[in-house]
Amino acid sequence: MPSTETMSTSTGSTDTIGDIILQDHQEIRSLFVKYEQSSILDEKYDIIQKARTLLLPHESAEEEVLYPKLRKEVAGGSEIADERTQEEQGAEKLFKEIENMDSSSPDFISAADKLVEEVRKHASEEERYVLPALMQRFSQKELIGMGNDFKKAKSSAPTHPHPNAPHKGIGKTVAGKVAATMEHLQDKT
Ligand SMILES: [Fe+2]
Ligand SMILES: [Fe+2]
Repeated sequence: MPSTETMSTSTGSTDTIGDIILQDHQEIRSLFVKYEQSSILDEKYDIIQKARTLLLPHESAEEEVLYPKLRKEVAGGSEIADERTQEEQGAEKLFKEIENMDSSSPDFISAADKLVEEVRKHASEEERYVLPALMQRFSQKELIGMGNDFKKAKSSAPTHPHPNAPHKGIGKTVAGKVAATMEHLQDKT
C-alpha cells in the first residue's frame, strides 16, 4: 500500500497560489515574532538571515508569476503591482544593507526593525488587495496552476539581495539560475 506521501505526490498539489503565499507570509511572521522575543544580537541577526532565505525567493516568484497576471488581467492591477513592487525593492535594499553589517553594527537593530515593520505591512497589503482580486478573477484550477508555477519560480530564485538587477524573471535567465542554485546551496551549509 502506497504511503500517504506517495499518494499525495501522485495526485499533485492542490494548493492555490493564494494558499502558498499565505503560508509563506505566516512563516515569515513567525520568524519576526522570534526576532522580537530574542534579546541576543547574534540570534536576531540569524533570524533576519533566515527570513531573507524565505522572503527573497517568495518576492521574486511573486514578481515572476503573480504581478504580471495582476497587471494584465485585473482592472487597476498595474497600480497595485507598482506599489507592491516598490515595497519589495525597499525590503531588498534593507536586506542588502544588513548583509553588509554584522550583529554588533550600531545600525543593525534600526535597519532590522525597519525591515520587519515594512515587510509586515507589505504582506498585509498583499492579503488585503492582491489576493482577493486574484481569487475573484481566476478559477480554482487556474489558481492551482499558478501555485505550481509559483513553487517552481521560488526554487530557482536568488536568496541573496540583488537590488540593482532587473527583477522580473531573474531566476529564468541562465546566469540568474546558476547564481540562485549557488545561493540555495550556500544557505544550507
Ligand atoms: Fe510581495
Ligand atoms: Fe508576499
